[in-house]
Amino acid sequence: MLVTLEGLDGSGKTTVWEALHDAYPDAVFTREPTSDSWYGEAVNRAIDDDGADPLATLFLFTADHADHLSRVVRPALADGKLVVSDRYSDSRYAYQAAALRDSDLRRPMEYIRGIHTAFTRPPDKTIYLDVDPETAAARSGATNKFEQAAYLADVRENYERLVEAEPERFVRIDATQSPEDVLDAVEAALEAILAEQ
Ligand code: TYD
Repeated sequence: MLVTLEGLDGSGKTTVWEALHDAYPDAVFTREPTSDSWYGEAVNRAIDDDGADPLATLFLFTADHADHLSRVVRPALADGKLVVSDRYSDSRYAYQAAALRDSDLRRPMEYIRGIHTAFTRPPDKTIYLDVDPETAAARSGATNKFEQAAYLADVRENYERLVEAEPERFVRIDATQSPEDVLDAVEAALEAILAEQ
């Protein structure tokens, strides 16, 4: 099954994802943007370029997702593995819909979901690390354009829309807790998810 971790920058997602490696040694741990392909490198260039075109950036992230699916996610699932991805399609629906809010697109989130629908493999479950935008921006150091509090407030609203649309897919964890408590809560959530299968 495919389990994804989502949340704002500074929600502690990556720390949790790293800590889970020991608890699930047979699982495939992966991430978006990918860190081992030129598609991921292109995405990282866009993240660091304050003048990058937001629509072009959406397509770079989406290209990276297509490669991630065919090269990592689908083969691992075909092998019967548990796949745990640090960020996945919901990051595009939340972050790029916020980045394209004032663009010519009338309904950015619907558009972005639409271009994914034809080829993506939706997650079976998504663990959402919920944190307020101010804490998120302060923790992440607001070092890139996606980490500013005002932008993260829009991103969080988009995550809320996604949770509302598919409440059965999401497990919400309060990520303002201490890192230890967040990790305990995520481990318990993952146990419950796997027991349900
Ligand atoms: P990530 O590598 O998770 O952040 P970190 O540097 O904290 O490990 O993601 C990099 C940035 O890219 C982050 O600000 C979120 C953003 N992002 C998007 O805007 N859209 C996407 O589809 C993804 C996967 C990430």
